[in-house]
Amino acid sequence: MERTYVMIKPDGVQRQLIGNIVSRFEQKGFKLVAGKFVTLSKETAETHYGEHRERPFFGELVDFITSGPVFAMVWEGENVVKVARTLIGATNPAEAAPGTIRGDLAVQVAMNVVHGSDSVESANREIDIFFRADELQAYTKAGQEWV
Ligand code: PPS
Repeated sequence: MERTYVMIKPDGVQRQLIGNIVSRFEQKGFKLVAGKFVTLSKETAETHYGEHRERPFFGELVDFITSGPVFAMVWEGENVVKVARTLIGATNPAEAAPGTIRGDLAVQVAMNVVHGSDSVESANREIDIFFRADELQAYTKAGQEWV
C-alpha cells in the first residue's frame, strides 16, 4: 500500500490546526501510520529540502521550518501521494482552491501550513529522514473495506 509523508509546519502547529488537518486525511479514508512532534535541526531541514538549495527562498524556508515544532506524519492508502497533494492544494495559498487545506487555511506562500511529498520516490526518502521503521504502525483501520 502506498505511503506519503505529510508535515504540519510551525505555522500550522502554532495556529492549532493539527486536528483540522488530520481530520481531513482521516475523513478522506487514509490511515495514519505514524505521527510525532519534531523540531528540525538546520541539517535535517537542509536534507529534507535539499532539491531547493539553489532557490532564492531556500534560507528563508530553512529558517521557517526550524523555527518551532512541526507535526510529522505518514499516511497510507490508495494513490495517497497524489491525493494528499490534491487535499493540500496549490503551493501558493492565494492560488489554492477553496476546500483544500491551503485554500481554506493559509494566505502566504512562505507560511503555507503543510508539506506533502511530491512523488512516491520523495515520499520514501522523506519518510526515511523522519521515521525509523519501527515507528510505522501496522493495524487494521475500521471501515477500510468501505473506502
Ligand atoms: S512544490 O510544491 O515543491 O512544487 O513547490 P515549490 O514552488 O517548488 O516550492 C518548494 C518548497 O518551497 C516552499 N516555498 C517557499 N518558501 C518560502 N518562501 C517562498 N517564497 C517560497 N516559495 C516556495 C514551498 O512551500 C515548498 O515547500 P513545501 O514544504 O514542499 O510545501
